[in-house]
Amino acid sequence: MRYATLKVAEHLLLSVGRAWIKTRKRDHYYRKAKAEGYRSRAVYKLMQINKRFRVIHPGDVVVDLGAAPGGWAQLSRELVGPRGSVVALDLVRIAPIEGVSLLQGDLREESTMDRLLALIAGEAECVLSDMSPRLSGAHSLDHARSIELAEAALMVAEKVLKPKGNFVTKLFQGDMYAAFRRRVARCFTACRGFTPPASPARSAEIYVVAKEWLGPRQARRNL
Ligand SMILES: C[S@@+](CC[C@H](N)C(=O)[O-])C[C@H]1O[C@@H](n2cnc3c(N)ncnc32)[C@H](O)[C@@H]1O
Repeated sequence: MRYATLKVAEHLLLSVGRAWIKTRKRDHYYRKAKAEGYRSRAVYKLMQINKRFRVIHPGDVVVDLGAAPGGWAQLSRELVGPRGSVVALDLVRIAPIEGVSLLQGDLREESTMDRLLALIAGEAECVLSDMSPRLSGAHSLDHARSIELAEAALMVAEKVLKPKGNFVTKLFQGDMYAAFRRRVARCFTACRGFTPPASPARSAEIYVVAKEWLGPRQARRNL
């Protein structure tokens, strides 16, 4: 009996896995990323964000959090050009990308934050975070974990951004979203929530896009 149940569960998992791979292969952005040499379909989300809000410019220093497998880091490298630089961090190893400094670690740990700050010689013009928690399927838990990651990204932004620097972070919508966005808005000249067309349909993900950090003194006064 137990064996039969296991077999049914195994069969179900296999079919769900196969369906997921099939959907992914049919996906327009997945195929486009393969054809254009990008490591992830996520790259088109950053392309759409940047087209709309102009957060990355030639010569910028960009910090890319939750960067694996590296689509955003590849695009950031192209956008900043030879005068700029990109630092990419993730929990998991990122295969080398020419001209990108790589770091592996959990951003929520102090030691990772310290290593990141040591690597960014000088200050950044842009902090990006596409960090995602491992999804549990329980909406409020996934939302709370995404807020925790977005808070960690904001902390990095507050430590490394130059005044007038830009910040983009992903999170999953839920009851803490509005308060987080208000908090970001107090530290930047402009702040918007934006779901790029390349975000998966039915996903709760949204990007908070904030422009022109007010600098430490003004930001602290507004908190
Ligand atoms: C959607 S993927 C990022 C895709 C990436 N922007 C790209 O274009 O290839 C989300 C990443 O967030 C990373 N991540 C999640 N929690 C993290 C944490 N606490 N510290 C660092 N990275 C984290 C995951 O390991 C995962 O690789």
